Amino acid sequence: MDFWKVGFLGLLCAASVFATGAVELGRHQPTERISGSAGDVLEDDPVGRLKVFVYELPSKYNKKILQKDPRCLTHMFAAEIFMHRFLLSSPVRTLNPEEADWFYTPVYTTCDLTPNGLPLPFKSPRMMRSAIQLISSNWPYWNRTEGADHFFVTPHDFGACFHYQEEKAIERGILPLLQRATLVQTFGQRNHVCLKEGSITIPPYAPPQKMHAHLIPDKTPRSIFVYFRGLFYDVGNDPEGGYYARGARAAVWENFKNNPLFDISTEHPTTYYEDMQRAVFCLCPLGWAPWSPRLVEAVIFGCIPVIIADDIVLPFADAIPWEEIGVFVDEKDVPQLDTILTSIPPEVILRKQRLLANPSMKQAMLFPQPAQPGDAFHQVLNGLARKLPHEKSVFLKAGEKVLNWTAGPVGDLKPW
Ligand SMILES: *[C@@H]1O[C@H](CO)[C@@H](O)[C@H](O)[C@H]1NC(C)=O
Ligand SMILES: *[C@@H]1O[C@H](CO)[C@@H](O)[C@H](O)[C@H]1NC(C)=O
Repeated sequence: MDFWKVGFLGLLCAASVFATGAVELGRHQPTERISGSAGDVLEDDPVGRLKVFVYELPSKYNKKILQKDPRCLTHMFAAEIFMHRFLLSSPVRTLNPEEADWFYTPVYTTCDLTPNGLPLPFKSPRMMRSAIQLISSNWPYWNRTEGADHFFVTPHDFGACFHYQEEKAIERGILPLLQRATLVQTFGQRNHVCLKEGSITIPPYAPPQKMHAHLIPDKTPRSIFVYFRGLFYDVGNDPEGGYYARGARAAVWENFKNNPLFDISTEHPTTYYEDMQRAVFCLCPLGWAPWSPRLVEAVIFGCIPVIIADDIVLPFADAIPWEEIGVFVDEKDVPQLDTILTSIPPEVILRKQRLLANPSMKQAMLFPQPAQPGDAFHQVLNGLARKLPHEKSVFLKAGEKVLNWTAGPVGDLKPW
């Protein structure tokens, strides 16, 4: 008992040193440049490095769908709509497909929401197939590569596997017609059938104005050590907590619900965004995908993200050195989270805070209207530009066919 108390006090002291130290130093020191594995690329200007042709599709593939449900503009998969709008007025857009490096098909496959606002992916495969059929018969460019110089935005839970249940998504696999295309998606997990090589992982959409409205003065002390708000159990589908976020959230709750270093709860306070700006560490138990807005919020509010998600592929991971910015904790190590976080040296914390303070880091996480240099739209374009030139081998010989138009579940072959 006594031993426990002493250890406990020790942790508390360490925590407050970290917190105030971070305030005094972190907030007044210059920010640090972000250099990813692809070099210093976050501030790159994609203009002049690639040209994108935007197919013109009948409005039933995009605008009409949005008219039916304007909530699609604010849910976390809205990047699919904003990316379209951005490209239409972007200087990288070309109206001459002959000079295009990349082809983009504006099809809003996540904009079919339940009354509760959850996207239903059941029609998505047929809709996507219909759009591809259309572009491949009206323009010669799809057949030239069977999609290898085309990109699609597919921000579903499991990307182009088009199902929200992992088991079903794995069973389906990536839509066969998209197997050669580049997918821009929020889903990112290594060695998973729903993430193919060469995909671009993007952050989920989080409303920038809403977050900016809650900024508090820079000098506010970070007096909370660890912060998290969200569900620990998916009571309806998974009361035992083994499946939801692969048990990581349940483990956080069971181990730390009574630990004063941990400010964790399911209640979502009105001061949520302000609280993140008062915290040193923000937990991101992402389960199997970075589509939870937690990560974006942590970055915007300068709270070091503690990423609990084995094998995750985080947004723009070739441009952002997430290992240096965040803290990665293996799912199996969640019970030791307190020791892991309290033993990180203050200078390491300060460096992470400096990297997070870099405006280009925050910019890269957002899809603002209108777009701004270095934002997530630009990072997608930078990612596409880095893939150029296309290998000669992706251009098929006359009459050569690789894709199988009748592969996949028969239900997907029905007209849309
Ligand atoms: C592309 O190939 C398909 C057959 O796979 C064909 O039906 C279609 O007409 C071709 N498109 C063009 C523009 O030639
Ligand atoms: C295409 O897929 C269908 C359905 O899986 C299969 O029956 C057919 O043999 C495949 N065609 C080729 C050429 O592989």
